[in-house]
Amino acid sequence: MTGQPANANLKGAFFLDEMVFHPSPEFRKNANVQDARIYLDAEENWLEYWNKEAEKLHWFQKWNFTLRWEQPFAKWFVGGKLNASYNCIDRHLHEGRKNKAAIIFEGEPGDSRVLTYQDLYREVTKFANVLKDLGVKKGDRVSMYMPMIPELPIAMLACARIGAVHSVVFGGFAAGSLRDRINDAGSKVVITVDGGYRRGKVLPMKKNVDEALKENDTVEKVIVVKRTGTEVDMVEGRDLWYHDLMKDALIGCPAEAMNADDMLFILYTSGTTGKPKGIVHGTGGYMVGVSSTHRMVFDIKEDDIYWCTADIGWITGHSYVVYGPLANGATTVIFEGAPDYPARDRFWEIIEKYAVTILYTAPTAIRAFMKWGDHWPAGRDLSSLRLLGSVGEPINPEAWLWYYNNIGKKRCPVVDTWWQTETGHIMVSSLPGISAAKPGSATMPLPGIEVDVVDPAGNPVPAGQSGLLVIKRPWPGMLLTVYNDPQRYVDQYWSEFENMYFTGDRAVKDKDGYFWMLGRVDDVINVSGHRIGTMEVESALVDHPAVAEAAVIGKTHEIKGQAISAFVTLRDNYVGSDELVQELKKHVAAKIGALARPDDIFFTAELPKTRSGKIMRRLLRDIADGKALGDTSTLANPETIAELKESYTD
Ligand code: WT7
Repeated sequence: MTGQPANANLKGAFFLDEMVFHPSPEFRKNANVQDARIYLDAEENWLEYWNKEAEKLHWFQKWNFTLRWEQPFAKWFVGGKLNASYNCIDRHLHEGRKNKAAIIFEGEPGDSRVLTYQDLYREVTKFANVLKDLGVKKGDRVSMYMPMIPELPIAMLACARIGAVHSVVFGGFAAGSLRDRINDAGSKVVITVDGGYRRGKVLPMKKNVDEALKENDTVEKVIVVKRTGTEVDMVEGRDLWYHDLMKDALIGCPAEAMNADDMLFILYTSGTTGKPKGIVHGTGGYMVGVSSTHRMVFDIKEDDIYWCTADIGWITGHSYVVYGPLANGATTVIFEGAPDYPARDRFWEIIEKYAVTILYTAPTAIRAFMKWGDHWPAGRDLSSLRLLGSVGEPINPEAWLWYYNNIGKKRCPVVDTWWQTETGHIMVSSLPGISAAKPGSATMPLPGIEVDVVDPAGNPVPAGQSGLLVIKRPWPGMLLTVYNDPQRYVDQYWSEFENMYFTGDRAVKDKDGYFWMLGRVDDVINVSGHRIGTMEVESALVDHPAVAEAAVIGKTHEIKGQAISAFVTLRDNYVGSDELVQELKKHVAAKIGALARPDDIFFTAELPKTRSGKIMRRLLRDIADGKALGDTSTLANPETIAELKESYTD
């Protein structure tokens, strides 16, 4: 990439549409996608475009119709039969990749394991047989609560192989969140570990599972992988060790021929109510979407060492640590630990150690690296890198440029990829061999994808004006529904506008058609690239005996993007104190997980409300961000605001 920053002072700026970085001629020449006509061709016949992409996968039976669209329910590749695990493993055994590294695993303590595609075939088919022997059948749900170790993708692919539906729950969630997700899915089996490493300490993951299962009546077996050697209670008749089960398991297990629209997995995400939504993804459309976008956006080549740093417990990990890269026969790096343990150059050490060529990470991590100092990456050999990616939240231009200069050494294109748990795969991103990048913009929708910015009535807004981000036609990886709640699917995504999917995001399209994402419009906070519903945190707070009422908002944060601030009114007989603040923070972390721990808690006699009793979060957000207050005319209790402002600045 070449180009010169046009603006020296970047602080606070986001709209830098004058600063453009073009791919270098060399990158362009070798790129998987070099011809910008791909956009026009896809536009001309988008169904045919996806047909062609689908043909790159292995199908047991070809589809009859590319799309059956009964809004808002889409069926992609109708009549087609395939298996995700077959596409991620078996196919490569016949295509010369038998001895190629499929997974390079770096454990937190520094242990390392490499699994070739043949290794993966053996482990996955054995574990598929284990699950079958335990009575797991096509359509059954299996929950996983695990750290980033190879047994997690092995278990996911084993489920996919036999047609069971996996539901991975991020290992940082507390027992209560885990319980809700296991119960909602009605899982028959849970897979976990004795303990998980976190910065040298051990998280009691099995213990959390035991706690979660106290209020459950569907789980029959718990399979425990030994990772840390921590003592655990094994419940007689329910709990089984992974290594015991695998000892005598047979290698080889046929891959079930799944319908294209059969469920592949459920993944829970926060919404605007207290109850997490089980986002359901199918097999055919999802696999086409993730493999196609992974190949194009990351320009994946046979000898790449590709590393997406996301946890598999989030959609980024599902799509771009596991399914996308493995479907493309790539080598995917899995790292168990944290970026600052044992030292703040752990990422750069891993890149040096394995000669990583493609790095896909999040703006929150990049901002932390910036803060830690340039000497950490400078002390390691990063010359293997050739492409960088960003995901999870808008990347501010300062962070983009730092990433480009200090990690990519001005040699590597940066792709900023916008998408969601619901979209399954990347929707808006540059194609690194074609597009000119503008730092801070996710650039344009990928070929075949139609995204727009509209006003509340659904009309496109003029260039340069902000509006609501919508998707105007179905795409292969789109969610099938919300698990057990199709009405919520309709209400959440398809009721804001006629004929359009509403993303919940705000955006601006500039005069060149570049998209600048501006964050959520709903009551969802994006903390370090992870969605947390304000309602979930509020419910956790009011669950504490001291709390009468709580309002939770996202506050701008230097590293996390947004942090959680809570405004709390106390019940009679309770007085606010530093101890109570600490206790409430702990309470939320124990209820939901450390990721939901509020940064600040403020006590107030009253919350600002409209006359109809609705909490005015906008005002709270303005107070928290230190902004001038917007319209307060609809406020029922204006005096509250003055008091709040005072206590906030104290
Ligand atoms: C929300 C989706 C799938 C990515 C991981 C998060 C925000 C995501 C970007 C980006 C600006 C972004 C949006 C989106 N977001 N990527 N490149 N630029 N915003 O998945 O938890 O489902 O959250 O993350 O607000 O709606 P998620």
